Amino acid sequence: MLLEVGSPAKAKAWVKDALEKKKKIMGFGHRMYKTEDPRATHLRRMSESLCTKVGRPELYEMSRLIEEAMWELKAIKPNVDFYSASTYYAIGIDPELFTPIFALSRLSGWTAHVLEQLANHRLIRPVGEYVGPQEAHWTPMGER
Ligand SMILES: CC(C)(COP(=O)(O)OP(=O)(O)OC[C@H]1O[C@@H](n2cnc3c(N)ncnc32)[C@H](O)[C@@H]1OP(=O)(O)O)[C@@H](O)C(=O)NCCC(=O)NCCS
Repeated sequence: MLLEVGSPAKAKAWVKDALEKKKKIMGFGHRMYKTEDPRATHLRRMSESLCTKVGRPELYEMSRLIEEAMWELKAIKPNVDFYSASTYYAIGIDPELFTPIFALSRLSGWTAHVLEQLANHRLIRPVGEYVGPQEAHWTPMGER
């Protein structure tokens, strides 16, 4: 999204146009957090320092302006994804890997939810019901 926006000068007009077209702006809004997602607070700081350090301060500046526009026009705060984007980009991660990296960090939590769901027949997050294979087996690395 930031690459598409292109420059800080275009940021606010881009948000206005997208909202007029009823588009969802990625990285904003959350089903639970109606105030600022606490993770966004830390990632904003990391984004600022890393983008400056690698000579891409415009990525952070665009993000700030998009955030401002979203607040002015829709009163919606950024979620954990928003400042992750410029932070990941600044440390050289390919955008295609952003979602897999985020997913990897959550695997242990998701797995715990699945195990609890299977053990108690109780959904942890109702819209996140696990419907994949069950009773799968794996061979430990040392035995392969
Ligand atoms: C997470 C999400 C599904 C929550 O949606 P929700 O439960 O409808 O959120 P709210 O009830 O607070 O929405 C209030 C209003 O803001 C709008 N809105 C919410 N998030 C928005 C976004 N990212 N961009 C534009 N408008 C948004 C809703 O459409 C709604 O508008 P309306 O009153 O005109 O119908 C939604 O914010 C979203 O799709 N975000 C973008 C995707 C994303 O970043 N997901 C990762 C979350 S970790």
